[in-house]
Amino acid sequence: MRLRNKAFFAALLGGAAFWFLTTPDNLDPTLVAALTGDPARGAQVFAIGGCASCHYAKGAKDDARLLLGGGQEFATDFGTFIAPNISSDESGIGGWTGYEFANAVIRGISPSGQHYYPAFPFSSYAQMTVADAVDLKAYMDTLPPVRQVNANHELPLPFRLRRGLGLWKMLFLDDGNIAETTEIRGQYLVEGPGHCAECHSPRNALGGTNTNRWLAGAPNPKGKGRIPNITPHADGIADWSIEDLAYYFETGFTPEFDTAGSTMVAVIENLSQLPAPDRLAIARYLKSLPPLPDAAK
Ligand code: HEC
Ligand code: HEC
Repeated sequence: MRLRNKAFFAALLGGAAFWFLTTPDNLDPTLVAALTGDPARGAQVFAIGGCASCHYAKGAKDDARLLLGGGQEFATDFGTFIAPNISSDESGIGGWTGYEFANAVIRGISPSGQHYYPAFPFSSYAQMTVADAVDLKAYMDTLPPVRQVNANHELPLPFRLRRGLGLWKMLFLDDGNIAETTEIRGQYLVEGPGHCAECHSPRNALGGTNTNRWLAGAPNPKGKGRIPNITPHADGIADWSIEDLAYYFETGFTPEFDTAGSTMVAVIENLSQLPAPDRLAIARYLKSLPPLPDAAK
């Protein structure tokens, strides 16, 4: 009897610890209160953030890429995620406050207090400034509403339960800088809104980015081959000058006059919309990183 009581008590404590550790850690609302939001600046955050690339309809072209009704599917080791509607319609995020929006993008928490899955790259956006998030919302409010009810993700148990994501966040959500560099603007764009590591760094078994292999290349989840190493190592971008990189980000042309392919095409479309000094800052940041070889085969 005493033993059973002990087990019961341990389970209760475990449950309480789980509940405590997985409680959403919300942004401080006073950070958002004084901000109004500048749509012109927000358009640039939207571009570097690549929000449209995941949230426009499957196969959308040209202007249809500003219709953010969602529906694209993302197959992962944990199941298939379906991008939700983030248009200004009520079936999207039309009714959201600036605070709810910033809390979703920077902390990965929904207006009803649930955790989002890291298929939404908020673990990078965690480094976004609150001002950038509010500008972004002001810009997205100017885009056309799309009426479309969200489809459910196709996930097995236990991944269907969002509460456990609190533990994932405890392990992998970090709003501190990762690399040491003097290139502050470039670092902000790459580590934060640009979320380059979501593709260019490998992940561990729990789906967190491996910061010891920061930008040193990773398996390609969408098909064959590897996503290249973009550290200044001979296996990476040692042969590229800062200007080569900035030119690639603007046009998609490599120094060998190849063109960017695969999922980088959409990234270049977004980077080409940034002011030129931002592309240079990204290039300088990459060249300032510690060089890392490709992972052993
Ligand atoms: C790599 C693909 C990807 C990118 C890039 C991306 N998202 Fe998402 N987003 C998702 C997925 C998948 C979800 C669903 C997450 C969930 O259900 O937990 C999501 C969810 C959201 C939600 C919550 C919607 C709701 O109904 O609760 C918002 C808001 C959002 N994204 C905004 C953005 C913004 C703003 C950007 C750009 C800064 C962005 N997303 C970039 C994939 C992406
Ligand atoms: C959605 C996944 C994805 C994201 C996000 C992404 N990349 Fe890439 N990147 C790729 C892929 C795939 C390639 C290989 C393209 C090819 O095969 O032509 C690539 C290629 C590159 C190259 C060329 C390297 C070489 O050796 O050819 C550079 C430089 C680069 N990316 C920088 C960036 C930067 C900077 C960011 C963030 C602003 C970024 N990437 C974000 C997928 C991504």
